[in-house]
Amino acid sequence: MNAASLFRERYGTEPTGLWAAPGRVNLIGEHTDYNEGFVLPFALPQRTVAAVGPAPAGEWTVCSTLEEGTISFGATTPGEVTSWAAYVAGVVWALQDAGFEAPGARIALASEVPVGSGLSSSAALESSVLTALIDLGGLDLAIERRPALAQRAENVYVGAPTGIMDQSASIRCLAGRALFLDCRSYEVKQIPFDLAAEGLAILVINSNAPHQHVDGEYGARRKSCEEAAHILGVPALRDVPPDGLAAALDKLDDEVMRRRVRHVVTEDQRVLDTVALLEQGRVRAIGPLLTASHASMRDDFEITVPQVDVAVEAALSAGAYGARMTGGGFGGCVLALIDADRADVTTEAVEQAYGKSGFTAPTCWIATPGAGAARL
Ligand code: GLA
Repeated sequence: MNAASLFRERYGTEPTGLWAAPGRVNLIGEHTDYNEGFVLPFALPQRTVAAVGPAPAGEWTVCSTLEEGTISFGATTPGEVTSWAAYVAGVVWALQDAGFEAPGARIALASEVPVGSGLSSSAALESSVLTALIDLGGLDLAIERRPALAQRAENVYVGAPTGIMDQSASIRCLAGRALFLDCRSYEVKQIPFDLAAEGLAILVINSNAPHQHVDGEYGARRKSCEEAAHILGVPALRDVPPDGLAAALDKLDDEVMRRRVRHVVTEDQRVLDTVALLEQGRVRAIGPLLTASHASMRDDFEITVPQVDVAVEAALSAGAYGARMTGGGFGGCVLALIDADRADVTTEAVEQAYGKSGFTAPTCWIATPGAGAARL
C-alpha cells in the first residue's frame, strides 16, 4: 500500500500533500562526519513518502505501512515516545526546541528504503516528516539548517549518537550528483556523478548480515575518536592533517586508538582525492580509493564483518574497479564500481562466494543518484 492510500484508509480523508525523502549510499568518507571531516554520499532512488494532512494545533498522529496501529501524541520531551514513532516525535520536538511552531498533523508513511541495511531509512523518515512540517507550517528554515535539526531528533530524542551525514544526504542531495559535505562548516559542493555516461554503474550489495552490537560499537568508535582528539589537543580529528599523522600517532599510547585515528585521517584525505578525480571526470580512477577505504575500515577501524569482506573480495575478483562497505558498519551494504555491463557477472560472483561461505544470500541492485527531500 502507498502512503496516500494508507492516509485515506486510516483518516478517512485526502492528505494535503505527499513529501518524499531518500535513503543514501555513501560513496566514501566513513565515520568522518562526527570527526568534523568530509563525506561524499549520494541519494538513492528509494524513498520514504509521507502523506500529510492538518490536525489541531499540538496534536500529531502517525501510522506506517511497516507498523501496526496508529500512534498519537502531543508536545513531548525526549524519551516520552519510545516506539518507532519516536523518529516523528523527535522531529516535532526538534522543531519546537529550535523555536519553530510545528503544525499539528496527521501523517501516513510508506518506505521503499530497506530497514536495517545501513541505507539510512531513519534519516529518510525524519527528513520526509521534517520537510512536510516545514512546508505545511510555512516555517522559515533554510535548507542548510535542516539536517542538524533532523540529527538532533535522532541524537537527543531517539538517543542514537550518529553524525550529520545521513540527514544531509536525504535533504541536500541532487539527482545525478554526489554531495561533498564539509561536516564542520556544513558547506556543500554538488559533484557531477554521471556513471551511465561513462558506461559505469554502482552495484549495491546488501550483505543481509544480521546487525549486531551496532549501537554500542558505533558509540565506542565515536568515543575513541573524541578521546584521541582531546589527547592531541585538537577540536576534532579533522584537524590532524595527513602530514601530521605520524607525529600525532607518536603522541598516543593506545594501539587501538592509534588505528582509529589513522582510519579517520586517511579517510578524510581519500574523500578529498575522490572529489578531485571526479571533478576531472576520472571516475574509474576512484576505484583504488574505494578499496583502500574498505581496507582501512576492516583493519584500522574494525567495523566490517565477514559477509561484507567477502562481498568486496568477490566483486574485485570479478573485475570491479573498487569496492567498499558503505554506512556505519557491522553488516549493511557494500558498493562496487563496475562497468555497467558487468552487473550480472559481479552479482553472480558475489552470490557464489556467499554460497561457498555458507552466508545468507545477498541482494544486489544498481543504484543511481536520486533527488533529495521534496514535495511530490
Ligand atoms: C551511520 C551514521 C552516520 C555516519 C555513518 C558512518 O550511518 O548515521 O552519521 O557516522 O554511520 O560513516
